[in-house]
Amino acid sequence: MPLHMIEGVTIPVDFKLPDAMTPEQKREDDKLFDEALALLKEKNAFLIAHYYTNDTMQRLAEESGGFIGDSLEMARVGRDSDKNLIVVAGVRFMGETAKILSPHKQVLMPDLEAECSLDLCCSVDDFVAMKNKYPNATTVAYANTSAKVKAKADWIVTSSLAVELAEYLKSRKEEILWVPDRHLGSYIAKNSEAMVHCWPGRCIVHDAFESNALAFVLKENPNAKILVHPEAPESVVAMADFVGSTSQILDYAKKSSSDTFIIATERNIFYKIKQACPDKKLIEAPVASLNGHCISCANCPWMGLNSLAKLIKILKDPKGHEIFVDEDIRVDAIKPLDRMLRFSAALKSGNEIPKDL
Ligand code: 13P
Ligand code: SF4
Repeated sequence: MPLHMIEGVTIPVDFKLPDAMTPEQKREDDKLFDEALALLKEKNAFLIAHYYTNDTMQRLAEESGGFIGDSLEMARVGRDSDKNLIVVAGVRFMGETAKILSPHKQVLMPDLEAECSLDLCCSVDDFVAMKNKYPNATTVAYANTSAKVKAKADWIVTSSLAVELAEYLKSRKEEILWVPDRHLGSYIAKNSEAMVHCWPGRCIVHDAFESNALAFVLKENPNAKILVHPEAPESVVAMADFVGSTSQILDYAKKSSSDTFIIATERNIFYKIKQACPDKKLIEAPVASLNGHCISCANCPWMGLNSLAKLIKILKDPKGHEIFVDEDIRVDAIKPLDRMLRFSAALKSGNEIPKDL
Protein backbone atom coordinates (compact mmCIF):
# COMPACT_ATOMS: atom_id res chain seq x y z
CA MET A 1 0.00 0.00 0.00
CA PRO A 2 1.60 3.32 -1.05
CA LEU A 3 1.08 4.98 2.34
CA HIS A 4 3.62 7.12 4.13
CA MET A 5 2.81 8.40 7.63
CA ILE A 6 4.37 11.81 8.05
CA GLU A 7 6.22 12.89 11.18
CA GLY A 8 7.04 16.21 12.76
CA VAL A 9 3.55 17.63 13.27
CA THR A 10 1.89 18.46 16.58
CA ILE A 11 -1.01 16.20 17.42
CA PRO A 12 -2.70 16.73 20.80
CA VAL A 13 -2.44 13.67 23.03
CA ASP A 14 -5.75 14.38 24.71
CA PHE A 15 -8.49 16.93 24.27
CA LYS A 16 -10.41 19.07 26.70
CA LEU A 17 -13.88 17.63 26.25
CA PRO A 18 -17.07 19.48 27.12
CA ASP A 19 -19.45 17.87 29.61
CA ALA A 20 -22.28 15.85 28.13
CA MET A 21 -25.86 16.89 28.92
CA THR A 22 -27.25 15.02 31.91
CA PRO A 23 -30.49 13.05 31.37
CA GLU A 24 -32.24 15.75 33.42
CA GLN A 25 -30.87 18.55 31.17
CA LYS A 26 -31.87 16.50 28.14
CA ARG A 27 -35.45 16.20 29.41
CA GLU A 28 -35.58 19.96 30.07
CA ASP A 29 -34.20 20.59 26.57
CA ASP A 30 -36.86 18.38 24.97
CA LYS A 31 -39.56 20.54 26.55
CA LEU A 32 -38.29 23.52 24.53
CA PHE A 33 -39.20 21.93 21.21
CA ASP A 34 -42.32 24.01 20.45
CA GLU A 35 -40.63 27.27 21.40
CA ALA A 36 -37.62 26.48 19.19
CA LEU A 37 -39.89 25.52 16.28
CA ALA A 38 -41.90 28.73 16.56
CA LEU A 39 -38.76 30.86 16.69
CA LEU A 40 -37.23 29.23 13.62
CA LYS A 41 -40.44 30.04 11.74
CA GLU A 42 -40.68 33.59 13.08
CA LYS A 43 -37.08 34.34 12.08
CA ASN A 44 -37.44 32.52 8.75
CA ALA A 45 -34.32 30.56 9.65
CA PHE A 46 -33.11 27.39 7.91
CA LEU A 47 -31.84 24.76 10.33
CA ILE A 48 -29.20 22.41 8.94
CA ALA A 49 -28.32 19.60 11.33
CA HIS A 50 -25.74 16.85 11.12
CA TYR A 51 -26.79 13.22 11.80
CA TYR A 52 -24.64 13.30 14.94
CA THR A 53 -26.75 15.92 16.70
CA ASN A 54 -29.26 14.56 19.19
CA ASP A 55 -32.62 13.23 18.08
CA THR A 56 -34.53 16.31 19.33
CA MET A 57 -32.37 18.58 17.17
CA GLN A 58 -32.83 16.30 14.17
CA ARG A 59 -36.59 16.21 14.74
CA LEU A 60 -36.58 20.00 14.91
CA ALA A 61 -34.77 20.17 11.56
CA GLU A 62 -37.39 17.86 10.08
CA GLU A 63 -40.43 19.65 11.48
CA SER A 64 -39.17 23.15 10.67
CA GLY A 65 -38.54 22.27 7.01
CA GLY A 66 -34.78 22.27 7.59
CA PHE A 67 -32.27 19.61 6.59
CA ILE A 68 -30.35 16.71 8.12
CA GLY A 69 -27.35 15.32 6.29
CA ASP A 70 -23.69 14.44 6.08
CA SER A 71 -21.03 17.11 5.84
CA LEU A 72 -21.04 17.20 2.02
CA GLU A 73 -24.82 17.54 1.79
CA MET A 74 -24.83 20.20 4.50
CA ALA A 75 -22.39 22.28 2.46
CA ARG A 76 -24.42 21.88 -0.72
CA VAL A 77 -27.79 22.57 0.86
CA GLY A 78 -26.51 25.60 2.79
CA ARG A 79 -25.16 27.08 -0.43
CA ASP A 80 -28.35 26.43 -2.38
CA SER A 81 -30.88 27.59 0.22
CA ASP A 82 -32.68 30.85 -0.52
CA LYS A 83 -32.99 31.66 3.19
CA ASN A 84 -30.76 34.41 4.48
CA LEU A 85 -30.48 33.05 7.99
CA ILE A 86 -28.86 29.63 8.39
CA VAL A 87 -28.45 27.85 11.69
CA VAL A 88 -25.86 25.09 11.56
CA ALA A 89 -26.23 22.45 14.26
CA GLY A 90 -22.96 20.59 13.99
CA VAL A 91 -19.34 21.45 14.64
CA ARG A 92 -17.46 24.61 13.75
CA PHE A 93 -15.96 23.52 10.44
CA MET A 94 -19.50 22.90 9.17
CA GLY A 95 -20.54 26.45 10.11
CA GLU A 96 -17.40 27.87 8.50
CA THR A 97 -18.04 25.91 5.32
CA ALA A 98 -21.57 27.32 5.14
CA LYS A 99 -20.23 30.85 5.57
CA ILE A 100 -17.46 30.40 2.99
CA LEU A 101 -19.99 29.23 0.42
CA SER A 102 -22.64 31.83 1.33
CA PRO A 103 -20.85 34.96 2.53
CA HIS A 104 -23.93 37.15 2.19
CA LYS A 105 -25.98 34.93 4.52
CA GLN A 106 -26.00 35.12 8.28
CA VAL A 107 -24.71 31.80 9.68
CA LEU A 108 -25.32 31.05 13.35
CA MET A 109 -24.31 28.10 15.49
CA PRO A 110 -25.79 27.15 18.86
CA ASP A 111 -22.28 26.84 20.31
CA LEU A 112 -19.15 28.20 18.68
CA GLU A 113 -17.04 26.02 20.98
CA ALA A 114 -18.17 22.93 19.07
CA GLU A 115 -14.78 21.69 17.92
CA CYS A 116 -13.74 18.54 16.10
CA SER A 117 -10.67 16.59 17.20
CA LEU A 118 -9.56 16.25 13.59
CA ASP A 119 -9.65 20.00 13.08
CA LEU A 120 -7.65 20.40 16.32
CA CYS A 121 -5.02 17.94 15.01
CA CYS A 122 -4.07 20.18 12.09
CA SER A 123 -2.77 23.70 12.67
CA VAL A 124 -2.32 25.89 9.63
CA ASP A 125 1.36 26.46 10.52
CA ASP A 126 2.11 22.73 10.54
CA PHE A 127 0.15 22.33 7.34
CA VAL A 128 2.13 25.03 5.53
CA ALA A 129 5.40 23.54 6.79
CA MET A 130 4.42 20.12 5.42
CA LYS A 131 3.31 21.59 2.11
CA ASN A 132 6.83 23.00 1.83
CA LYS A 133 8.32 19.63 2.71
CA TYR A 134 6.27 17.86 0.00
CA PRO A 135 6.17 20.55 -2.71
CA ASN A 136 5.25 18.10 -5.47
CA ALA A 137 2.26 16.63 -3.68
CA THR A 138 -1.33 17.75 -4.25
CA THR A 139 -2.74 18.81 -0.89
CA VAL A 140 -6.08 17.26 -0.04
CA ALA A 141 -7.74 18.44 3.17
CA TYR A 142 -10.62 16.59 4.73
CA ALA A 143 -13.65 18.86 5.26
CA ASN A 144 -13.02 18.46 9.02
CA THR A 145 -10.41 21.24 9.03
CA SER A 146 -10.41 24.97 9.78
CA ALA A 147 -11.11 27.62 7.15
CA LYS A 148 -7.44 28.62 7.40
CA VAL A 149 -6.28 25.12 6.43
CA LYS A 150 -8.88 24.91 3.67
CA ALA A 151 -7.54 28.18 2.25
CA LYS A 152 -4.11 26.57 1.78
CA ALA A 153 -5.36 23.28 0.29
CA ASP A 154 -5.62 22.29 -3.38
CA TRP A 155 -8.68 20.15 -2.71
CA ILE A 156 -11.23 19.69 0.04
CA VAL A 157 -13.04 16.38 0.28
CA THR A 158 -15.56 14.68 2.53
CA SER A 159 -15.64 10.98 3.39
CA SER A 160 -18.31 10.33 0.77
CA LEU A 161 -15.93 11.29 -2.07
CA ALA A 162 -12.46 10.66 -0.70
CA VAL A 163 -11.65 7.40 -2.53
CA GLU A 164 -13.05 8.69 -5.83
CA LEU A 165 -10.95 11.83 -5.58
CA ALA A 166 -7.80 9.84 -4.73
CA GLU A 167 -8.44 7.59 -7.76
CA TYR A 168 -8.89 10.66 -9.93
CA LEU A 169 -5.64 12.21 -8.67
CA LYS A 170 -3.86 8.89 -9.15
CA SER A 171 -5.09 8.87 -12.77
CA ARG A 172 -3.42 12.28 -13.11
CA LYS A 173 -0.25 10.76 -11.60
CA GLU A 174 -0.40 13.10 -8.60
CA GLU A 175 0.90 12.26 -5.14
CA ILE A 176 -1.29 13.30 -2.24
CA LEU A 177 -0.49 15.11 0.99
CA TRP A 178 -3.54 14.16 3.03
CA VAL A 179 -4.73 15.89 6.22
CA PRO A 180 -5.70 15.21 8.96
CA ASP A 181 -7.31 11.76 9.57
CA ARG A 182 -4.86 8.87 9.67
CA HIS A 183 -7.48 6.17 9.19
CA LEU A 184 -9.23 7.81 6.26
CA GLY A 185 -5.80 8.54 4.75
CA SER A 186 -4.85 4.89 5.00
CA TYR A 187 -8.24 3.84 3.62
CA ILE A 188 -7.91 6.03 0.50
CA ALA A 189 -4.32 4.89 -0.09
CA LYS A 190 -5.41 1.26 0.06
CA ASN A 191 -8.42 1.71 -2.20
CA SER A 192 -7.00 4.05 -4.81
CA GLU A 193 -3.37 2.92 -4.94
CA ALA A 194 -2.45 6.63 -4.96
CA MET A 195 0.73 7.60 -3.11
CA VAL A 196 -0.51 9.22 0.11
CA HIS A 197 1.63 11.15 2.59
CA CYS A 198 -0.70 10.90 5.54
CA TRP A 199 -1.19 13.20 8.55
CA PRO A 200 -1.45 11.31 11.86
CA GLY A 201 -4.64 12.94 13.24
CA ARG A 202 -7.63 11.11 14.65
CA CYS A 203 -11.28 11.42 15.44
CA ILE A 204 -11.63 10.53 19.11
CA VAL A 205 -15.04 9.00 18.49
CA HIS A 206 -14.28 6.69 15.57
CA ASP A 207 -10.74 5.86 16.68
CA ALA A 208 -12.26 4.06 19.68
CA PHE A 209 -14.10 1.34 17.74
CA GLU A 210 -12.45 -1.96 18.51
CA SER A 211 -12.09 -4.99 16.23
CA ASN A 212 -11.66 -7.76 18.86
CA ALA A 213 -14.85 -6.75 20.63
CA LEU A 214 -16.55 -6.37 17.26
CA ALA A 215 -15.65 -9.98 16.43
CA PHE A 216 -17.53 -11.08 19.58
CA VAL A 217 -20.61 -9.08 18.63
CA LEU A 218 -20.49 -10.58 15.15
CA LYS A 219 -20.24 -14.07 16.60
CA GLU A 220 -23.49 -13.46 18.47
CA ASN A 221 -25.12 -11.98 15.35
CA PRO A 222 -23.59 -14.00 12.52
CA ASN A 223 -26.00 -12.70 9.88
CA ALA A 224 -25.39 -9.04 10.65
CA LYS A 225 -23.84 -6.71 8.12
CA ILE A 226 -21.11 -4.45 9.53
CA LEU A 227 -21.34 -0.81 8.43
CA VAL A 228 -18.34 1.41 9.20
CA HIS A 229 -17.37 5.07 8.81
CA PRO A 230 -13.86 5.32 7.30
CA GLU A 231 -12.58 7.34 10.28
CA ALA A 232 -12.54 4.04 12.21
CA PRO A 233 -9.27 2.06 12.61
CA GLU A 234 -8.08 -0.11 9.75
CA SER A 235 -8.76 -3.35 11.69
CA VAL A 236 -12.43 -2.34 12.06
CA VAL A 237 -12.71 -1.17 8.44
CA ALA A 238 -11.25 -4.55 7.40
CA MET A 239 -14.26 -6.31 8.96
CA ALA A 240 -16.83 -4.09 7.25
CA ASP A 241 -19.39 -5.20 4.69
CA PHE A 242 -19.79 -1.55 3.81
CA VAL A 243 -17.63 1.55 4.42
CA GLY A 244 -19.05 5.01 3.82
CA SER A 245 -20.06 8.45 5.02
CA THR A 246 -22.98 8.88 7.38
CA SER A 247 -25.46 9.35 4.52
CA GLN A 248 -24.03 6.40 2.63
CA ILE A 249 -24.37 4.17 5.72
CA LEU A 250 -28.00 5.24 6.10
CA ASP A 251 -28.64 4.59 2.43
CA TYR A 252 -27.03 1.15 2.59
CA ALA A 253 -29.14 0.15 5.61
CA LYS A 254 -32.30 1.27 3.79
CA LYS A 255 -31.57 -0.60 0.56
CA SER A 256 -29.99 -3.75 1.96
CA SER A 257 -32.07 -6.91 2.15
CA SER A 258 -30.32 -7.77 5.45
CA ASP A 259 -32.29 -7.26 8.61
CA THR A 260 -29.45 -6.85 11.14
CA PHE A 261 -26.64 -4.29 11.17
CA ILE A 262 -23.71 -3.57 13.44
CA ILE A 263 -22.90 0.10 12.98
CA ALA A 264 -19.54 1.73 13.71
CA THR A 265 -20.20 5.45 13.67
CA GLU A 266 -21.52 8.10 16.05
CA ARG A 267 -24.59 6.72 17.78
CA ASN A 268 -26.98 9.61 17.01
CA ILE A 269 -27.20 8.30 13.46
CA PHE A 270 -29.51 5.63 14.87
CA TYR A 271 -32.32 8.20 14.96
CA LYS A 272 -32.51 8.34 11.16
CA ILE A 273 -31.70 4.67 10.55
CA LYS A 274 -34.44 3.55 12.96
CA GLN A 275 -36.87 5.86 11.23
CA ALA A 276 -35.97 4.49 7.80
CA CYS A 277 -35.73 0.82 8.85
CA PRO A 278 -38.14 0.34 11.79
CA ASP A 279 -38.18 -3.45 11.45
CA LYS A 280 -34.43 -3.99 11.24
CA LYS A 281 -32.18 -4.82 14.17
CA LEU A 282 -29.53 -2.15 14.75
CA ILE A 283 -26.55 -2.85 16.99
CA GLU A 284 -23.94 -0.34 18.12
CA ALA A 285 -20.38 -1.46 17.37
CA PRO A 286 -18.36 -1.78 20.59
CA VAL A 287 -15.79 0.85 21.62
CA ALA A 288 -12.51 0.45 23.50
CA SER A 289 -12.48 1.34 27.16
CA LEU A 290 -9.93 3.00 29.38
CA ASN A 291 -9.95 1.81 33.01
CA GLY A 292 -13.41 0.38 32.45
CA HIS A 293 -14.81 3.61 30.94
CA CYS A 294 -15.41 4.19 27.27
CA ILE A 295 -13.61 7.24 25.90
CA SER A 296 -16.49 8.80 24.02
CA CYS A 297 -19.09 6.00 24.10
CA ALA A 298 -19.57 6.66 20.39
CA ASN A 299 -20.94 10.09 21.22
CA CYS A 300 -19.19 13.12 19.75
CA PRO A 301 -18.87 15.45 22.77
CA TRP A 302 -18.77 18.56 20.59
CA MET A 303 -21.84 17.62 18.58
CA GLY A 304 -23.51 17.20 21.97
CA LEU A 305 -23.16 20.95 22.58
CA ASN A 306 -26.03 21.61 20.18
CA SER A 307 -28.91 22.02 22.60
CA LEU A 308 -32.31 23.55 21.93
CA ALA A 309 -31.81 25.95 24.85
CA LYS A 310 -28.75 27.40 23.09
CA LEU A 311 -30.50 27.49 19.74
CA ILE A 312 -33.33 29.54 21.25
CA LYS A 313 -30.84 31.87 22.90
CA ILE A 314 -28.93 32.59 19.69
CA LEU A 315 -32.08 33.12 17.66
CA LYS A 316 -33.25 35.68 20.20
CA ASP A 317 -29.85 37.34 20.41
CA PRO A 318 -27.38 36.29 17.68
CA LYS A 319 -24.59 38.56 18.93
CA GLY A 320 -21.46 36.50 19.57
CA HIS A 321 -22.88 33.38 17.92
CA GLU A 322 -22.40 34.26 14.31
CA ILE A 323 -19.71 32.64 12.17
CA PHE A 324 -17.32 35.03 10.43
CA VAL A 325 -14.50 34.07 8.09
CA ASP A 326 -11.89 36.69 7.09
CA GLU A 327 -12.43 37.67 3.47
CA ASP A 328 -8.86 36.85 2.36
CA ILE A 329 -9.21 33.37 3.84
CA ARG A 330 -12.69 32.94 2.41
CA VAL A 331 -11.69 33.76 -1.18
CA ASP A 332 -8.90 31.20 -1.01
CA ALA A 333 -10.96 28.55 0.79
CA ILE A 334 -13.88 28.76 -1.62
CA LYS A 335 -11.69 27.56 -4.50
CA PRO A 336 -11.02 24.02 -3.21
CA LEU A 337 -14.55 23.83 -1.80
CA ASP A 338 -16.03 24.76 -5.13
CA ARG A 339 -13.74 22.23 -6.79
CA MET A 340 -15.08 19.53 -4.45
CA LEU A 341 -18.71 20.45 -5.20
CA ARG A 342 -18.09 20.40 -8.95
CA PHE A 343 -16.24 17.09 -8.69
CA SER A 344 -19.12 15.66 -6.67
CA ALA A 345 -21.71 16.96 -9.15
CA ALA A 346 -19.83 15.36 -12.06
CA LEU A 347 -19.63 12.01 -10.24
CA LYS A 348 -23.31 12.14 -9.37
CA SER A 349 -24.43 12.92 -12.90
CA GLY A 350 -22.04 10.38 -14.44
CA ASN A 351 -20.46 13.16 -16.53
CA GLU A 352 -16.79 13.44 -17.26
CA ILE A 353 -14.79 15.30 -14.60
CA PRO A 354 -14.41 18.88 -15.94
CA LYS A 355 -10.96 19.50 -17.41
CA ASP A 356 -10.48 22.77 -15.56
CA LEU A 357 -10.65 21.25 -12.06
P1 13P B 1 -19.67 12.79 7.23
O1 13P B 1 -18.98 13.43 6.10
O2 13P B 1 -19.93 11.34 7.02
O3 13P B 1 -20.88 13.56 7.62
O4 13P B 1 -18.68 12.80 8.49
C1 13P B 1 -18.43 13.95 9.20
C2 13P B 1 -17.83 13.65 10.49
O5 13P B 1 -17.54 14.52 11.27
C3 13P B 1 -17.59 12.24 10.79
O6 13P B 1 -17.12 12.11 12.06
FE1 SF4 C 1 -14.96 15.44 14.55
FE2 SF4 C 1 -15.10 12.91 15.22
FE3 SF4 C 1 -16.88 14.60 16.19
FE4 SF4 C 1 -16.93 13.91 13.58
S1 SF4 C 1 -17.30 12.59 15.34
S2 SF4 C 1 -17.13 15.95 14.41
S3 SF4 C 1 -14.73 13.72 13.19
S4 SF4 C 1 -14.68 14.60 16.61
